Amino acid sequence: MVPESRFDPLDLTGLQPFAQGSNRLCFQHPDDSDRCLKVIRPENIEARFKRQSKLKNLLGKQRLNDNIQELKAHRQPALMQLDADTQGSHLPQFYGSVETSLGQANESELIRCADGHVAPTLEALIRHQNLSPELTKAVDQFLAWLRQTRILTRNLLPHNLVVSDRSGQPQLFLIDGLGAPTIPQALASVPGWSTHYIERKIARFRKRLAWEQNNEDLSWEDFQRLR
Ligand SMILES: Nc1ncnc2c1ncn2[C@@H]1O[C@H](COP(=O)(O)OP(=O)(O)OP(=O)(O)O)[C@@H](O)[C@H]1O
Ligand SMILES: [Mg+2]
Repeated sequence: MVPESRFDPLDLTGLQPFAQGSNRLCFQHPDDSDRCLKVIRPENIEARFKRQSKLKNLLGKQRLNDNIQELKAHRQPALMQLDADTQGSHLPQFYGSVETSLGQANESELIRCADGHVAPTLEALIRHQNLSPELTKAVDQFLAWLRQTRILTRNLLPHNLVVSDRSGQPQLFLIDGLGAPTIPQALASVPGWSTHYIERKIARFRKRLAWEQNNEDLSWEDFQRLR
């Protein structure tokens, strides 16, 4: 048998993703159970491209590739100047891009719970039920960290946060949605601007949490309009 060279793409043939979002499939790394590999679902880039306006199409397909956007997001100044402990308190470690049999993957820490299971999303924990006092505290700690670090994020969504008890108490990790569109990112150094941006994201997130827990049959759009 020919030994695999470290330059060969990682072979994901026959592996089942442990989870997926609308844009990416998530695999456990075949050589390291504490890492995950996220590959793009190309059909979704095509579908998004077709859905958006002709004007936006002029900006190209790269901006619809969440892996490329995530690589950029990790280079934002607020994040690069943080020490590893502060970063690691609410972000999985990020290892960059790696070639696989399913195309380029972003490799990052796979967040697990103390018992070894993959950490559940905040969405799964709060759907139609009240936040427990422990989870409320974990949410507040995460939001305080965002304010303190001034890391820019996209809209904060409960399915993009996972909750781990590995430190002995619930801790939120943002596993998707880091970064900001080009213009907001460029304005980040303008005094007061990033604070304003982050406060808007936090206010929207609080509303989203209220909606996720709401038992009335309101769509997110209607909930935003009416509340
Ligand atoms: N580092 C991680 N640790 C544990 N679970 C993870 C991790 N990354 C992703 N997941 C799980 O995989 C799911 C999909 O991942 P992710 O959100 O990155 O995909 P996506 O397609 O980019 O999502 P979206 O639909 O929000 O665009 C998450 O909701 C979460 O359940
Ligand atoms: Mg996601």
